[in-house]
Amino acid sequence: MATPDLGFVHRYLPGSPSLPVLLLLHGTGADESDLLPLGEALLPGAARLSPRGRVLENGMPRFFRRLAEGVFDLDDLRRRTNELADFVEAADAAYGLGGRRPVAVGFSNGANIAASLLLLRPGTLGGALLVRPMVPLVPDTMPDLEGLPVQINAGEVDPLVPPPQSEALATLLTEAGASVRLKWIAGGHALTTEDLDAGKEWFGFSSLSPHAGRPPW
Ligand code: MLT
Repeated sequence: MATPDLGFVHRYLPGSPSLPVLLLLHGTGADESDLLPLGEALLPGAARLSPRGRVLENGMPRFFRRLAEGVFDLDDLRRRTNELADFVEAADAAYGLGGRRPVAVGFSNGANIAASLLLLRPGTLGGALLVRPMVPLVPDTMPDLEGLPVQINAGEVDPLVPPPQSEALATLLTEAGASVRLKWIAGGHALTTEDLDAGKEWFGFSSLSPHAGRPPW
């Protein structure tokens, strides 16, 4: 089947209807293929929806504009967040996802737009694994994220995201009602195998799993 034009260059790989759909959101300079293997490793057999960020920074795809490292163009962020939420809705219809709200797996810039989706378009996601996110913005009105499972994988020595940023995002999402686990990873900004292990553990124990047990944390 030809890939439908849903406003984003993207890839969709079908999967089990009994598992959550994964929305894979890459980091700066990567593309829609980058996180497909991570998605399969995190939740084998799950459907994967993976858009490419529509903003180019020196030729590198991103999900929204920034003015400098860690300084975001908030108007663009709001606009791009709404575009991405609309894309997720369109994909639900185009691929027959049955209204299952996808679980975002975002890395770096992708984690930041995923956090923005939670804050600005709270009906879009069914959960989120945020790897090295920052606080993308503080919303004018708090969203209702009651019980929504979120894991933040924060790097203990991340030069881009100091620990208070990760803690501030965990607090913000918790105040909105999300069920947040802040997981510290021994490392910097790059993805590590510990991220994969911690992500798998979260998927296994959070309410996203059909066989969820009692989380050990
Ligand atoms: C961002 O711009 O979203 C963050 O600085 C992370 C990055 O992409 O480098």
